[in-house]
Amino acid sequence: MGVIITGTGSYLPEIVLTNRDMEMMVDTSDEWITTRTGIKERRIAPKNISSSDLGKEAILNACNDANIVPEKIDFIICATITPDKFFPSTSCLIEHKLGIKKKFAFDISAACSGFLYGLEIARNLIETSGYQTGAVVAAECMSRITDYTNRETCVLLGDGAGAVIVQRSEENGVIGSYLSSDGGYEYLLHAPAGGSKLPSSFDTIENRLNFMKMEGQPLFKIAIITMCESINNILKKYKLKKEDISLIIPHQANLRIILGVAKNMKIPVEKFFVNIEKYGNMSAACVPVALDHANKKQLIKKGDYILTVSFGGGLTWGANLIKWYKGDKNEK
Ligand code: ACO
Repeated sequence: MGVIITGTGSYLPEIVLTNRDMEMMVDTSDEWITTRTGIKERRIAPKNISSSDLGKEAILNACNDANIVPEKIDFIICATITPDKFFPSTSCLIEHKLGIKKKFAFDISAACSGFLYGLEIARNLIETSGYQTGAVVAAECMSRITDYTNRETCVLLGDGAGAVIVQRSEENGVIGSYLSSDGGYEYLLHAPAGGSKLPSSFDTIENRLNFMKMEGQPLFKIAIITMCESINNILKKYKLKKEDISLIIPHQANLRIILGVAKNMKIPVEKFFVNIEKYGNMSAACVPVALDHANKKQLIKKGDYILTVSFGGGLTWGANLIKWYKGDKNEK
């Protein structure tokens, strides 16, 4: 008995913020952003749209791909650092917006690695607790915690959501993971205010402490180290060679980070799926959006081994090993 991915989905808001638009907002240039990050544009959710709206659409899209109705879903796991509210959870709001009831739904907070953590939790729920079908979604409105006066962070971030449907199967498709974290690096990537440590106040708003803060340079180096560590550890854990992997779906924080991982690992860069130029860094949503786009572009064949790999605030990092069986179930 195992767990397989039977559908992928994504949703990107229509509003596009280009590098040229960013030039009007902060002291930056298309040339700097393109050469230092690989990003050309990012999507921004309109004011009346929140993470649960993006997440709902991504799940509907994944249900369609899996050829199931949302009612079939037993549980929803939503990875987000930009929830609609502190509570109730964004996943409960998504459940309601999908028009379904009496499932169970909860959020997880692991920043950019959130989808990877969520997929591992979903696998365990299905394998050990008898559930049939789960939805793992990552939905982020990063624009809501972005300081558009800070050129070092605002050019990087965008909004979007991605989801997968996972189902109990005879096959073993969601094979396992390597996950890790280190809270000692909290200061490298965080929103200082708005939580119980420093509740929102006139002071925190005035000092822009509710926005995401980042120390880009140390993070850049740690990102490459932890992503390489994740790939090495998961290959070792499941006794595979890098040549066995058909496609790697990396977190899309900076093209130079992806190129650095490819170079250090001596893995051809063509094996890394990249869409950062269009969407920037959507935190947890990057990996499932990229997975959905790779699936819809038919870049993954039945029987392929694929790896997700990510790092993010926490710090958190890790990788999932997936064997592609999509299409075995719910044939259209
Ligand atoms: N436009 C123009 N110049 C800029 C910009 C900008 N948008 N941002 C920074 N600069 C300037 C700096 O001020 C600096 O100027 P100085 O030399 O006069 O002091 C110069 O460019 C070089 O700055 P660096 O920080 O050295 O630039 P670097 O090449 O390291 O790139 C970047 C910065 C893109 C942030 C990179 O360090 C990076 O990608 N780090 C990792 C980011 C990341 O992964 N974040 C995590 C994800 S977010 C999340 O998890 C939600």
